[in-house]
Amino acid sequence: MRLHVVDHPLVAHKLTTLRDRRTDSATFRRLADELVTLLAYEATRDVRTEQVDISTPVAQTTGVKLSHPRPLVVPILRAGLGMLDGMVRLLPTAEVGFLGMIRNEETLQASTYATRMPEDLSGRQVYVLDPMLATGGTLVAAIQELIKRGADDVTAVVLLAAPEGVAVMERDLAGTPVTVVTASVDEHLNEHGYIIPGLGDAGDRMYGSA
Ligand code: URA
Repeated sequence: MRLHVVDHPLVAHKLTTLRDRRTDSATFRRLADELVTLLAYEATRDVRTEQVDISTPVAQTTGVKLSHPRPLVVPILRAGLGMLDGMVRLLPTAEVGFLGMIRNEETLQASTYATRMPEDLSGRQVYVLDPMLATGGTLVAAIQELIKRGADDVTAVVLLAAPEGVAVMERDLAGTPVTVVTASVDEHLNEHGYIIPGLGDAGDRMYGSA
């Protein structure tokens, strides 16, 4: 597994405001959206392209276009939904699938309650969206499902990661073609599974509810 922490002043600025408890839901959603687009720029660095011939108004030249099959973007419900627009802004031709996963707050185990995506992901590049890589359970389960369906290149875009979650992903996804792109690897995970200093519950902060 590859880990890429995006080091950019705009990313740090937006992340700081997201962390601030005084930031309201509307501002949080807008900043998360902007931050995802910045992360998406890095996350798509290896998106597959093919060479094409085109004519400009004055000459013929060659360029590149995204190749087929189209990339698949999979937000993990609920909080990953708040990252979808920011991602497809840069990948408007991507197909979108959905994975509904919930974490049991006592056992911290992830389970799937909804799946909507192609059965066969052979040869597909997949971008999974989940704001918080905390214990790693949800992302590992989601990525294992994608790989089971044949995905051969998976990038997880997360706003924040905990070192514990990164270690779990490295252990459980060893040898798989997975990249994690994040704005920060924070200090640690507390006993309730929250990232410290983190930003609290991403879903609650986005949607203003529990
Ligand atoms: N999920 C969240 O929303 N926040 C955390 O800190 C950890 C998991």
